[in-house]
Amino acid sequence: MTSKTTSKSNGRQHVRSGYRCDECGWTAIKWVGRCGECQAWGTVVEVGGSPTVRTAAARNLANTAVPIGEIDAEAARATTTGVSELDRVLGGGLVAGAVVLVAGEPGIGKSTLLLDVAARSAATGRRVLYVTGEESASQVRLRAERIGALQPLLLLAAETDLGQVLGHIEATDPALLVVDSVQTIASDNVEGSAGNVAQIREVAAAVIQAAKRRGMPTLLVGHVTKEGSIAGPRVLEHLVDVVTQFEGERHSRLRLVRAVKNRYGPTDEVGCFEMAEHGIIGLADPTGLFLTARDQPAKGSALTVALEGRRPLVCEVQALLNSTNASSPRRTTSGLDSSRAAMILAVLQRHVALPVRDRDCYASTVGGVRLSEPAADLAIALALASSCLDLAPAVPTIALGEVGLAGEVRRIGGLPQRLREAARLGFRRAIVPAGSLEPDEVPSGLQALPVADVATAVRAALG
Ligand code: TYD
Ligand code: MG
Repeated sequence: MTSKTTSKSNGRQHVRSGYRCDECGWTAIKWVGRCGECQAWGTVVEVGGSPTVRTAAARNLANTAVPIGEIDAEAARATTTGVSELDRVLGGGLVAGAVVLVAGEPGIGKSTLLLDVAARSAATGRRVLYVTGEESASQVRLRAERIGALQPLLLLAAETDLGQVLGHIEATDPALLVVDSVQTIASDNVEGSAGNVAQIREVAAAVIQAAKRRGMPTLLVGHVTKEGSIAGPRVLEHLVDVVTQFEGERHSRLRLVRAVKNRYGPTDEVGCFEMAEHGIIGLADPTGLFLTARDQPAKGSALTVALEGRRPLVCEVQALLNSTNASSPRRTTSGLDSSRAAMILAVLQRHVALPVRDRDCYASTVGGVRLSEPAADLAIALALASSCLDLAPAVPTIALGEVGLAGEVRRIGGLPQRLREAARLGFRRAIVPAGSLEPDEVPSGLQALPVADVATAVRAALG
């Protein structure tokens, strides 16, 4: 018999002992090393044969339910982290007892940012405990010297044992806790080494409990796997109040911090940072990073306004087409989706009659920004067309619109907001999808040229 659940004559259901994946909940009858569902290694654990149906009895009340209007909301008010770009992502700052997971690839700048936050917090007279499990105390001190984070109220503990970490919290009673990282702390009570699913779950649960009991905001560093998801059990993301993701290319200085989950605010905000010589700097107005400074528009370049969360960013797309004798021309993209670029090339060939077929094609963004929105299609098309025709627009031109397979230019979201940002930065001309703007939505000083298809857009931009 293979069924795990047997019905007894009294109608109660019993689960026989079996195995379940800690990460995704997949069940198995036999123990296996790798989960059959999510393919994670070492996550399948035994679950006991306890009855699934239990009856619960009502208890005496510890708290009575209160009308919602009488509840004190002050406890959930955010206080600033001292880093305004991070405050923006968190929805105003840190809330008492909130646990924030800061996830990102190794070397992206998590420790640098959190040390900066810890120091700024300590500078305002709050005691901050920074627990480092990754680096030695002296390594962290060296970094603190480099980024100017030496503060008398910033306490450092190099620990990897959960009990010791909790002891440090008791002993120092910090107003802010940083744990770097959740994957390097381990508990004696749990089998296995630091970083395994059960350990991460235990460490996170203990830290969260301490944070809630003390009203102590906590920043937890978490690593991501090669695939880009947060390492450890999915439950980690459910346990914490806020999940933020650190993004950026290793070779570029730009870093974006995005809220993936936020119990206290919106999740469509993005913080922009620059990795500099002496630490990580918040960029309140990051536009200059994604543009090449020049007086005249260049051939093979086009401009667009991307929306990162709620934030409009003027970005540049560059393209280079070169004739080739190779039977299959090269198609290379950087910061752009390669299949999207291939689609746009096909549209240019077919609907604009541009000879792109026998050309090597390179397309990229400037400054390491990733443009994955369809709204950037038209800018990609114009950059490619500009290089192919060896023509540049007469004046800097912003291109906004999604490109369809029939060569049409489709409407996009957030158009007025994007145009306002373009106008703010002094751009005078924009090409937009036809029929998508009311006259009062065009900012003064900006000329909006509506186009219905890519061929018209190419003519409007390049003459
Ligand atoms: P780090 O914060 O250690 O990354 P993580 O904690 O996410 O692993 O950042 C490491 C990288 O940042 C390293 O390649 C050097 C660079 N860096 C700077 O560019 N400027 C600085 O001031 C510091 C401290 C690091
Ligand atoms: Mg680190």
